[in-house]
Amino acid sequence: QAKTQLETIENNNDLNNLKAQYLGKKGDIASLMMTLKDLPNDEKPKVGKQINEIKQQLEAMFEEKRSVIEQLEIQLKLSAESIDVTLPGLQTEIGTSHLLQQIVEELEAFFIGLGYEVKEGPEVESDHYNFEMLNLPKDHPARAMQDSFYIDPNRLLRTHTSPVQARTMLESAGEPIKIICPGKVYRRDDDDQTHSHQFMQIEGLVIGEDISMSDLKGTLLSVIRKFFGQDREIRLRPSYFPFTEPSVEVDVHHEDGRWIEVLGAGMVHPNVLKMGGYDPDKVQGFAFGIGVERLGILKYKIDDIRQFYTNDIRFLKQFKGGR
Ligand code: PHE
Repeated sequence: QAKTQLETIENNNDLNNLKAQYLGKKGDIASLMMTLKDLPNDEKPKVGKQINEIKQQLEAMFEEKRSVIEQLEIQLKLSAESIDVTLPGLQTEIGTSHLLQQIVEELEAFFIGLGYEVKEGPEVESDHYNFEMLNLPKDHPARAMQDSFYIDPNRLLRTHTSPVQARTMLESAGEPIKIICPGKVYRRDDDDQTHSHQFMQIEGLVIGEDISMSDLKGTLLSVIRKFFGQDREIRLRPSYFPFTEPSVEVDVHHEDGRWIEVLGAGMVHPNVLKMGGYDPDKVQGFAFGIGVERLGILKYKIDDIRQFYTNDIRFLKQFKGGR
């Protein structure tokens, strides 16, 4: 009976229960032993011996079954934990930096090569740095050129990266300057194909002795050629900015023959130099402000500036360069 019962046992727990039934303190063998005392004396040794033999057989059977179950459990565990090395791995999508970031980094690398330092400034800027230090006192009509998001009467989201010029001049205390400042700027525009209330600029500022308009033109020509190709021409058109004099707007000659504006620039206005702690009779400076989206739109033939800001992965994925 024990043998057939053992055949159906598949785990240790059931095995222990069955073993207790036969070999436990109140098990069948124990109760058989109890009956010995009722036997005639001459039969006791013989029956006692038989019971012991049965007991030993049972113990052996249970031991054997226990080792079979252990083997079985090891096998089960092993197959549950086994790894199928032939399954395809999980695909990890590799991202890229945003196209605007790629352009900024490309231009940064170029300017760093020319000895420029990269500077940053706050996006929430005081009216003082965003306008006044740049020769735009309150009520100056040219403030209307840059429709602004004011936070309170004295603070606004910077409308251009030029306030970093003013900050750097004060920090540099009369020493020569050669910086670029990439960053986000904000203007109160209705967004459409060519306007975005948020966009990026790279400001440049060089101050030192004998800095001239030809330095400015040479610098701009080389950065444009680096970005668009060595055969590109640029055209400087007279323009107006309160913080530069003379001021120019710079066009790039495009493949289809059109001239397209990409940046504003000029010689730093004497008032701006003075407010920044520089003597306009001793040093000169040039400054420029590059529109980053504008560069990207032209180079990659992007038809809508909003593409930069809607984070459509199908758009972003096309620009796998960068880090
Ligand atoms: N700050 C100007 C703008 O945003 C661009 C500029 C920068 C012009 C530096 C001249 C010199 O329109």
